Amino acid sequence: MRSLIKALRIHNNAYYVLDDPQISDSEYDQLRRSLIELEEGYSDLIQPDSPTGQVGDAPLAAFSQVTHDIPMLSLGNVFNKDDLVDFMRRVNDRLSEAQKNPAYEMELKLDGLAVSIKYENGKFVQAITRGDGQTGEDISQNTKTIRNLPLVLEEARDIDLLEVRGEVLMPKAGFERLNRQALENDGKTFANPRNAAAGSLRQLDPSVAASRPLAFYAYSVNQGLPDSIATQSDALAWLKDLGFTVSAVQVVQGIHEAQSYYESVIESRADLPFEIDGTVIKVNDLALQSQLGFLSREPRWATAYKFPAETVMTTLNNIEWQVGRTGQITPVGKLEPVQVGGVTVSNVTLHNFGEIQRLDVRAGDTVSVHRAGDVIPKVTRVWHDMRPEGTKPVTLPKECPVCDSPVVLPEGEALARCSGGLFCPAQQQEALIHFVSRRAIDIDGLGERWLISFFEHGIVKTVADIYRLKDHAEELVTFEKLGEKSVANILAAIEASKKTTLPRFIYALGIRGVGETTARNLAEYFGDLPAIMTASIEALEAVPDVGTITAELIHDFFRAEHNIEVIEALQQAGVHWDKIEQIASADLPLDGQTWVITGTLSSMARDEAKAKLQGLGAKVSGSISSKTTALLAGEKAGSKLTKAEKLGVEVVDEAKFLALIGD
Ligand code: IVH
Repeated sequence: MRSLIKALRIHNNAYYVLDDPQISDSEYDQLRRSLIELEEGYSDLIQPDSPTGQVGDAPLAAFSQVTHDIPMLSLGNVFNKDDLVDFMRRVNDRLSEAQKNPAYEMELKLDGLAVSIKYENGKFVQAITRGDGQTGEDISQNTKTIRNLPLVLEEARDIDLLEVRGEVLMPKAGFERLNRQALENDGKTFANPRNAAAGSLRQLDPSVAASRPLAFYAYSVNQGLPDSIATQSDALAWLKDLGFTVSAVQVVQGIHEAQSYYESVIESRADLPFEIDGTVIKVNDLALQSQLGFLSREPRWATAYKFPAETVMTTLNNIEWQVGRTGQITPVGKLEPVQVGGVTVSNVTLHNFGEIQRLDVRAGDTVSVHRAGDVIPKVTRVWHDMRPEGTKPVTLPKECPVCDSPVVLPEGEALARCSGGLFCPAQQQEALIHFVSRRAIDIDGLGERWLISFFEHGIVKTVADIYRLKDHAEELVTFEKLGEKSVANILAAIEASKKTTLPRFIYALGIRGVGETTARNLAEYFGDLPAIMTASIEALEAVPDVGTITAELIHDFFRAEHNIEVIEALQQAGVHWDKIEQIASADLPLDGQTWVITGTLSSMARDEAKAKLQGLGAKVSGSISSKTTALLAGEKAGSKLTKAEKLGVEVVDEAKFLALIGD
């Protein structure tokens, strides 16, 4: 029985504390079952520290209040090296010449709940929460279920009363497991491991606490420490020998060693199996600790050297809109500058208009900003209760902040965009690169590097300016590394690009939603550019592969005056193409027919079905009328099906449709 208990303790520790199980769950169960069988057969030999007993007693009505023998105080904080130097100076000021510059012991500052645990003659008797420091709650029943907590201390049988203090926490992996299970069950998750640990310890039913992956890390002996132990580091080593889990500690001398321990902990923080919020630095010599004593509620001999806060509150002074390289208009929060995660943050992205609505944030609001590690800062909370009077809801700008073109928010999309396209300076650079690319106008000799350089020098603003470069030949030659020969090559490549094709030209314009295929379809459907430029949204929708959103984007593009100017300038400069063969729609099998699609298709999206029908020459409309040729009806077809039947419109099911399109 003793050896099974020992084995189970080791594996509990590996599983719950180290999150590094050494045996499989079934092997573990086997060990546990063997112990239970022995206990059933020899009930008079059941060991008081048997882990089979760590499953929780009967539920309590309430926790009883207990006064601490020795108050449980808290720690002061320092956040940087200067403050740490001050702390060490304050310690030195109270020490004699011979005692100055003592050794310090450093530990991790575990992010859990402080608990004081008492053992009488080596047997667990009581666990108390910190409470208000003077009086706490008796959580013995729950604490007893913590798997890595020794309930019997063989080596402490001759100590009448031993009080050990430490932190109860939930390791990250266990926390994630618990939240995953919670999501599957009632969906009530815990915000962080600390909350989860606190919630588990405050359960009146110990069997709930028993089911939670909690761990206890000891950090001090407050009563009953053998006289032979003179330092904090030796006290922790002793606790470890007794069977407690203690976190890694280090004895340091002087500010530099202390600082480098702190920095090394920051480095390894993410790899630790549990959360910490800093380090703790303690005068190592216990006699010096008593000599230094306490100042009000904090020890003079120790302080927390905390990590920079990762979530802080500040004021959102303003919301500005920025135009990205592809025209997306994104809101940027201008913050009252604040230290978070170790850096000063004054800007934070608010992503898109939808995010602003979701957060319900306004200029003037107090917000929480979170920044952890290298992750970009984020507004995690808006303090609506603190909203000052007179704030106004945020509205999407009507005009682009850079070029004043109308801003559009296509239906179903999160990002608003500047409709300025080729005219908007914020988008020009990207548009230029796209325009000259191989699959677009294809100006091979004009590399991206030079193009951007010309843009930055103001020589090329719009794509039309590319064809005016020859007027700047003398200036170009003055560019570093751009000799006469290179300039001649570039100009020749530009000249050669003037002869292109209509699909390439349309694609090169960089209209959103218009890739190479759509550009080709547009060219083939309309035959020439003027027809595309003047087409209505409905006419554009009739093009294979063009949905409502794309049709609107194309329509808007050709309604923006600047785009028309650029197109005209390109044509005037000599960009041209051969007229292309318009696909004679009369040759297509569904020419002249009007179809409507309804319900869900199992083999393809409705947009795809629409493209197929259009490819066969049919028009696809959104509503049924007596002029409708046929209704393609998928699963769960509703009112359109009823209407079609009423009007006597032919109804085509998916199988028939697939046969028709030859799939
Ligand atoms: S020693 C006189 N050591 O931090 C108090 N505390 O802010 C001596 N804590 O209430 C406390 N890790 O819950 C100590 N290694 C550690 C700690 C630690 C976490 C907590 C503890 C305490 C709080 C003080």
